[in-house]
Amino acid sequence: MRILVTGHHGYIGSVLAPTLREAGHDVVGVDTFFYRGCDFGTAPDIPSLEADVRDLGPRDLEGFDAVVHLAALSNDPVGDLDPELTYEINLRGSVSLARAAKAAGVRRFVFASSCSMYGASGSDALLDESAPLRPLTPYAESKVRAEKEVVALAGEGFAPVFMRNATVYGVSPRLRLDVVLNNLVAWAHTTGAIRLQSDGSAWRPLVHVRDLSRATLVLLDAPLELVTGQAFNIGSPEQNYRIRELAEIVHDCLPECEVTFAGGVSPDPRSYRVRFSKFAETFPEFRFEWTAERGVKELARAYEELGLTLEEFDVTGRFTRLAQLRRLLDTGALDRDLRWRSRSDGS
Ligand SMILES: NC(=O)c1ccc[n+]([C@@H]2O[C@H](COP(=O)([O-])OP(=O)(O)OC[C@H]3O[C@@H](n4cnc5c(N)ncnc54)[C@H](O)[C@@H]3O)[C@@H](O)[C@H]2O)c1
Repeated sequence: MRILVTGHHGYIGSVLAPTLREAGHDVVGVDTFFYRGCDFGTAPDIPSLEADVRDLGPRDLEGFDAVVHLAALSNDPVGDLDPELTYEINLRGSVSLARAAKAAGVRRFVFASSCSMYGASGSDALLDESAPLRPLTPYAESKVRAEKEVVALAGEGFAPVFMRNATVYGVSPRLRLDVVLNNLVAWAHTTGAIRLQSDGSAWRPLVHVRDLSRATLVLLDAPLELVTGQAFNIGSPEQNYRIRELAEIVHDCLPECEVTFAGGVSPDPRSYRVRFSKFAETFPEFRFEWTAERGVKELARAYEELGLTLEEFDVTGRFTRLAQLRRLLDTGALDRDLRWRSRSDGS
């Protein structure tokens, strides 16, 4: 299959795009490269186009069998930068891309959605794909509205499918340290303390970046009647954790590091425990291979081998999406719409 991966240069895309290629697909990436120079180790070389997804039209999508759409402002804090930007890229950008894909005859459109759309569940109940959506942030709201508008395009040979991903962890050559498990291990590695930013009571399901990449392959290969217009929670039942349990897992792997709480912590209102049976029952052959325990060991080893420093983690913030975007705005490399003032500034 010839597959266009948007956001292939990001945290997930840098693992997912090579995974699709290793499975025999012809993969092309498209990205605006906000995180160029933010590498962690050796990054893959994927043939790519430098473009903003907001500008892509049917001609850019001709000849592709499928699109995997990852490009987005990818977390809640970035949504606070200017909520309108999150709606512009994650909602309007996604819908116009899906329309362009349909017009170009792309058959399958795999959209990276998020379990964060379940928001404040207010209970320990397991939430399946039909649970009420209670987005608490512009980021989560952008995913809810994009799903709704893109699913309406299903039909006439166009099959959108939505991956409601759990929070991702694990090593990637475009590491993010603003996702919870990667962050806790980074505190432990760089300071000797596992620092919680909340009281740790919130539920947060997790999935490893390589399991997520393999799950994407399954959705690309599945018969269209199984996936068209469907949303799937992506993760595994044993990986519904409370944040404080994650801190304990990090402590078990790195016992010299104590769990500490940042000053003035309170409960995180974003708390959701998720049911993952729809994907498991639809694709019974698939196995999630990672757990948080294994992920912590992998992360700790990689931080050690590649010499992650406190400076990179907490001062320059080169692995923190909001910090990197702020830097590009402050230096004038990006304008207020997050467009490069000049392409050469961005290289
Ligand atoms: N990482 C997680 O825990 C997680 C969980 C659930 C869902 N997701 C979703 O998965 C997708 C990928 O997440 P990630 O963690 O790899 O994020 P990321 O920030 O590391 O990568 C996003 C990529 O998209 C690119 N991009 C952003 N805006 C763009 C635009 N307008 N045009 C072209 N490229 C653009 C960026 O340059 C970057 O390379 C996102 O849609 C995110 O919402 C991520």
